[in-house]
Amino acid sequence: MPSPFDVLQVDPDADEETVHRAYRRRVKEVHPDQGGSAREFQLVQSAYETIVDGSADSWYETNGTDEPATAAESAPEPERDPNVYVEYLDYEAVVANGWELGDDELFRKARRAGLAEESYGSFEVEPGDYLLEAAEEQGFDWPFSCRGGACANCAVLVVDGALEMTVDNVLSDELVAQGIQLSCIGTPVTDDLQVVYNVKDLPGLEELQLPSRMN
Ligand code: FES
Repeated sequence: MPSPFDVLQVDPDADEETVHRAYRRRVKEVHPDQGGSAREFQLVQSAYETIVDGSADSWYETNGTDEPATAAESAPEPERDPNVYVEYLDYEAVVANGWELGDDELFRKARRAGLAEESYGSFEVEPGDYLLEAAEEQGFDWPFSCRGGACANCAVLVVDGALEMTVDNVLSDELVAQGIQLSCIGTPVTDDLQVVYNVKDLPGLEELQLPSRMN
């Protein structure tokens, strides 16, 4: 029987974020709507819960394997997904929960807080696509106005990874250095990206806003 780590195709010493990303990828791969089976889907869910609960050690005791095999030994290297994995968090949820933007544990806290999907979650962006459009394709109503780099309504704070803006824009070098980017003209250029969206009211951005528009 494959171990929880084998099921998620991660090393037994993988950190929580790596496990979380592997879970998201595996869930997509084995989802019944994507050609997987309900059994595989449950197996992946159960493996994730076992690892996150910290009960993987008892799994080995029960199943009689002394040393967990590393993912490299036990599973073929997964094919690299060309899409960018984006994890997002609504700034309103940051404020409502009393969290700080500079907190290294911010996304870890968000993952465990049971937030609604519009406040926290993840989606994939195809190479070259704009972040705002990708969010809208998922059905989300992220703030925007001009859609051309001339306001700060669509601003996001990049916490991890990188977003490249494709045209001139209104942001000062100082704001960009703080991690502020515009999602309407921003394309993710790293494999993974963590952003806090809806940061348009942060100092330095409020005065750059235009009247908001809705889809
Ligand atoms: S909506 Fe105005 S810069 Fe993005």
